[in-house]
Amino acid sequence: MDITRVGIVGAGQMGSGIAHVFALAGYDILLNDIDQTALDKAIETVTRNLDRQVSKEKISQEERDGALGRIATTLELSDLGGMDLVIEAATEREAVKVAIFEELVPHLKPETILTSNTSSISITRLASRTDRPEKFMGFHFMNPVPVMQLVELIRGIATDEATYKTLLGVVEALGKTAASSEDFPAFIVNRILMPMINEAVYTLYEGVGSVSSIDSAMRLGTNHPMGPLELADFIGLDTCLAIMNVLHDGLADTKYRPCPLLTKYVEAGWLGRKTDRGFYDYR
Ligand code: CAA
Repeated sequence: MDITRVGIVGAGQMGSGIAHVFALAGYDILLNDIDQTALDKAIETVTRNLDRQVSKEKISQEERDGALGRIATTLELSDLGGMDLVIEAATEREAVKVAIFEELVPHLKPETILTSNTSSISITRLASRTDRPEKFMGFHFMNPVPVMQLVELIRGIATDEATYKTLLGVVEALGKTAASSEDFPAFIVNRILMPMINEAVYTLYEGVGSVSSIDSAMRLGTNHPMGPLELADFIGLDTCLAIMNVLHDGLADTKYRPCPLLTKYVEAGWLGRKTDRGFYDYR
């Protein structure tokens, strides 16, 4: 199937990054959110990041202008009806995602491919709440989307081969690399990454090392671009906790028990960079 028009639901950090890379690759984008301020902020972010790419001579001024010209915004979910592909990138809460699908699906063309950028929720379960489980897939981008090379493609139990092949072609057209994952809790990246971050929080909780020594140890000792606590702040501590809970509930193994200190930070509203406070203080 030919994909030219792409709808994105949710104009946060992930939705705006996804809009950026698709528009740069020549797709026409309709970005949806319930909040006009979020849409305005997303366009500001995309503009700033495209400008950064122009100043680093990664893209030309014409490519930047073309990409911005291909992004339109809407507050109405029903406007996404004519899209060839829809990517849901809303809050990582199952009830929110299901409510979006239930409102959106009656407006979609039968051939539209529907995807979720969920970082951990069951694709099979989300697909079952739509009218097209065979045309439903997990389409998981990494943050920051314009920089990170990987896209995880997750097949639900009913996803058909044509849908998978179409999305594989889209990933190639974006200049990114796909990793295919079966539908198990947190897929591949977060199944491995989140227990490492959780263990870093335990290392802090048990007084093995300070925030800076844990991060330096992993940055300099294993050549990670960011230490695990810095990365947790970057991802959002609420997201990290939600993914640990999905692993703990879904795999029923105590090795995935979220660290009580992680829970405490989230309860305090210290969610990382987005609230200016997490393991580091950004104020
Ligand atoms: N848009 C466009 N370009 C951007 C950008 C953005 N949003 N953010 C950074 N860049 C570019 C910069 O311009 C810079 O380009 P050059 O190499 O040409 O100079 C490059 O990326 C590096 O950026 P900086 O110099 O500003 O900063 P840095 O060297 O410290 O790198 C980083 C920043 C890319 C975020 C790096 O620290 C990194 O890779 N961190 C790890 C990120 C990571 O692991 N992400 C995955 C998280 S897990 C996930 O997303 C899955 C999930 O479900 C939770």
